[in-house]
Amino acid sequence: MLRNLADRIEWGESLSALARRMGTPLYIYDAEVVRDRLAELRHGISCVGRPWHIHYAMKANRHPGILRAVRAEGDIGIDASSPREIALALDAGFTPDEISVTSSMPSDRDLTEFARAGAHVNLDTLSSIRRYGALAPPGSRIGLRLDPEVAIGWRGDSRMAYGKGKFGFDEPAVAAALDAARAAGLEVDTLHMHCGWNIDASAIDGFEAALALLARIARQVPVRTVNVGGGLGVRFLPGDQPLSPRAWAGALRRHLGGLDCAIACEPGTFVVAEAGVLIVEVNTVEQRRDTVWVGVDAGHNINPLAAHYGVPLRIAAVGRVAEPARRYTVAGNINEAIDIFARDVALPEIREGDLLALFPAGAYGSSMASDHCLRGRPNEAMLA
Ligand SMILES: Cc1ncc(COP(=O)(O)O)c(C=O)c1O
Repeated sequence: MLRNLADRIEWGESLSALARRMGTPLYIYDAEVVRDRLAELRHGISCVGRPWHIHYAMKANRHPGILRAVRAEGDIGIDASSPREIALALDAGFTPDEISVTSSMPSDRDLTEFARAGAHVNLDTLSSIRRYGALAPPGSRIGLRLDPEVAIGWRGDSRMAYGKGKFGFDEPAVAAALDAARAAGLEVDTLHMHCGWNIDASAIDGFEAALALLARIARQVPVRTVNVGGGLGVRFLPGDQPLSPRAWAGALRRHLGGLDCAIACEPGTFVVAEAGVLIVEVNTVEQRRDTVWVGVDAGHNINPLAAHYGVPLRIAAVGRVAEPARRYTVAGNINEAIDIFARDVALPEIREGDLLALFPAGAYGSSMASDHCLRGRPNEAMLA
């Protein structure tokens, strides 16, 4: 289990063997963690006291092995955000009625594909409602995505906050959205709200405020389903205390438990972050001024969390459980100043050729990987 990275690193032999055989940079995923996390969520949401749906947000990780593990659960659907994600979900065996689509700024091409797939779509602009009405069969059901109106993403960072920004109708705009749906021949059957990324326990008041807003609107707009999006997370930095599934479910029960509809969610990070580790190889160890630089064979094209979002992964030396001996700054192989995985981290004495493990790396790593600088995409392996 990758739940405890130290356990894995101790069997560094096999991790190294896999990394040497498949080549680095290499993501390794553990299906058992995915199953555990889905079980926790299932337990939490079933305590709300309403019928429920869990849609795994495949934007977090669309590796076929992950989708297979989710599919094998039997009662978990998919949250997709683009036509190609829908196509991949269908290929993985999910049926259209198990797929919920929440996209951003969809084009007519996107909307045509959504309608053709027959998946349920949540929309958050008058424009997309009008255009979807012209493209989808009359009477199609849609959801309205609402603005949570709070900024409760990870550590208050605006990059991870969804309130008062690009997404969703705010409360005064809901009437116009309903009018637009009616005029477009669409039936609104869902209210949707995604609050932010990796919500911390300390943000519970903001989360509850968003749920109270959602409940207030749901009491005025009768729907079949209220979808609370994703946002559950894991510990990245010491001091993070992610909102637990239990506390999350308690808040859902308090605010939404009395509604006469089903409750849906679409978690990504919580399901897969700790199911993944990224193995990279050290190619450079060199002191420059006061810093000892460790250069590795991956960059922010392989994992963007540190460079793009300021979320550093934890780093360990594979197969080395000795006490940390020195402080290093770990840099990637992309020609950009932002391409740093971690600054001033304590590690055992590092040598060129060593393998490093970066964790938790299962969410928004490989799914966001690019071929920037033609460095290529990462390798990926799945432990069953
Ligand atoms: C609409 C929507 N739903 C679900 C998710 C998954 O969120 P998370 O990974 O925080 O669980 C996202 C992430 O951006 C999202 O935008």
